[in-house]
Amino acid sequence: MSVTAVIGTQWGDEGKGKVVDYLAESADYVARFNGGNNAGHTVINEFGTFKIHLVPSGIFVRNTVGLIGGGVVIDPSVLIDEIDFLNNAGVDVEGRLWVSPRSHLIMPYHKILDGLYEEAKGPGATGTTLRGIGPVFADKVSYNGIRWSDFTSEMFESRLKVQLELKNKIIVALGGKALKYEEVRDMYGGYYARLRPYIRELFGIVQDGLKADKNFLLEQAMGTFLDTDWGTYPFVTASTTIPAAASAGLGIPPRYITNVVGVTKAYTTRVGAGPLPTEIHDVESEVYGKFGETAATTGRTRRVGWLDLELVRTAVMISGVTELCLTKLDVLSGLEEIQVCMGYRLNGKDVAYADVDAYGLDEVETMYKTVKGWKEDISKTRSFGELPIQAQEYVKMIEGAAGVPVKWIGVGPERDATIRK
Ligand code: IMP
Repeated sequence: MSVTAVIGTQWGDEGKGKVVDYLAESADYVARFNGGNNAGHTVINEFGTFKIHLVPSGIFVRNTVGLIGGGVVIDPSVLIDEIDFLNNAGVDVEGRLWVSPRSHLIMPYHKILDGLYEEAKGPGATGTTLRGIGPVFADKVSYNGIRWSDFTSEMFESRLKVQLELKNKIIVALGGKALKYEEVRDMYGGYYARLRPYIRELFGIVQDGLKADKNFLLEQAMGTFLDTDWGTYPFVTASTTIPAAASAGLGIPPRYITNVVGVTKAYTTRVGAGPLPTEIHDVESEVYGKFGETAATTGRTRRVGWLDLELVRTAVMISGVTELCLTKLDVLSGLEEIQVCMGYRLNGKDVAYADVDAYGLDEVETMYKTVKGWKEDISKTRSFGELPIQAQEYVKMIEGAAGVPVKWIGVGPERDATIRK
């Protein structure tokens, strides 16, 4: 039996969706444990190209069972659309996708408040995905949340009434329009009726699976440095993203997590505000053109930077990474020289990521190593030995800094564009 967590070692968008889809071949259960539909995982396989936000990416492998744990917050309309989309594309999820009744619901007022808070913060805004993530998690921990389990009694209506009274006051005070109780009640009643066949307590499924030596693949949303505690607070997301969250979010005791695959993109990207020490600002540069990406969830352009090994090293320690998967190595092809950040200095002293806060991280001097690039297109390469020597050296340098082996290397978006080292 193995429980493997797949964890991004940067600011999300490391390419975890593809890695999970690839590793899911040997999984019995594929699970989401944190975040919500702020995540966007792109998966390209025999069924087509998918951008999925809530259903675990490993669902495309036929014999897997998908679990959405209580640690995930759910926008029901997004989940319904995703289920319909997957069923229509021939990825039958009926009877093999289960949603925890403990998961909290993103309500219309969460999305409105997310926007109003961002507006009120002005230049200090987080740059959220505006999906209501911060406000729903705030309600969860301040006992104001609404869960699927509330629908089995009168609880939903009474809780909704109280919440709407409270939230409408704030919305109106901030210049927004009050929501109508009957409209929200009917809308969510309809969502519950649609999703009811998928809602099921996961405790027995997870515990039986652990006892029966089944393989679990745990899929993190976002990345290590968006973690509420260990990320660049306040420029973070509202949930714990490190593997520890899988324990609470799914009910898997920590000692069962045997493998942690750290997913590292060969360069760095970030969406939203906050420090990005290796950021490349020259939008006209060749490298900016190569690294430029569009966010799967919001369509925003991602900020880009060189690979930052201080970040990767820190993520390996915090998340207990046992092996790395390096993604998008093919994107570096054609660069004469590549810069890699080996560490930081501040006020003339070496500093580690953990020594500085988000504002300090904006001030650090990045200590770059310049390495030689390679010209060859490597997207068809399927063995490590066939990679240009400079690409091999790049991988070895990452292993040296991180202290764990790189086991997989992504050289293209398709499932099979992967080198097993
Ligand atoms: P929120 O999670 O929508 O509240 O956004 C908080 C921060 O996390 C913002 O900087 C977002 O851009 C970032 N964020 C949220 N989800 C993702 C993701 O899936 N990939 C990358 N960044 C994300």
